[in-house]
Amino acid sequence: MSLNPDVQARVHAEIDAIIGNDALLSMHHRIQLPFTEATILETQRLGDVVPLGVPHAVTEDVYFRDYFIPKGTMIIPNLYSVHMNPELWPEPEKFKPERFLDSDGNIDQKELIPFSVGKRQCLGEGMAKMELFLYFTSMMQHFNFKPAPGYPAPNTKGLLGFTNAPEPFHILVRKRNAK
Ligand code: HEM
Repeated sequence: MSLNPDVQARVHAEIDAIIGNDALLSMHHRIQLPFTEATILETQRLGDVVPLGVPHAVTEDVYFRDYFIPKGTMIIPNLYSVHMNPELWPEPEKFKPERFLDSDGNIDQKELIPFSVGKRQCLGEGMAKMELFLYFTSMMQHFNFKPAPGYPAPNTKGLLGFTNAPEPFHILVRKRNAK
């Protein structure tokens, strides 16, 4: 949000109109905050926290497109390649939450697969989505995020391990509507 002040302003405005500063946030608000939800989805796409999913193996011989994959072969799903595919997401390197809103302003998740797909997809998806919504929206309800003077802007490339984690960074966080 510190790198995208226009998006932050739209999220603040949506939250102010629907919840205000004082009311306690709950999951019931999620459906009323499509731009905020779209911002979380775009963060998941670009943040790509689990870029290579979890390795699996095929349990039988498989023919896929022009490939023969013998039983027992390890498969590493490249979720990053889906999330950065310019045919699915024009200008994929840009942070544009509105790509997840349809013409009526409703959420359309499209091909977003941060929790992978299939029988072994993330078991915690429902809980993770609730946590992301409650944490992010509550932070946005109460705080403003800006680049910290004298420090470099946060690096969005991340530190790649099994997960893609943020590098340490400095930002300026101020309580909104502080008296
Ligand atoms: C934003 C947060 C999260 C992301 C992006 C995420 C992503 C993933 C991905 C990509 C997989 C691999 C799926 C596969 O093998 O194809 C996975 C598996 C799994 N996740 Fe998550 N996860 C998140 C949060 C959570 C939470 C909060 C929990 C538990 C409460 C959880 C529990 C699990 C479990 C148990 C599996 C293994 C499922 C299986 O192998 O059958 N995850 N997750």
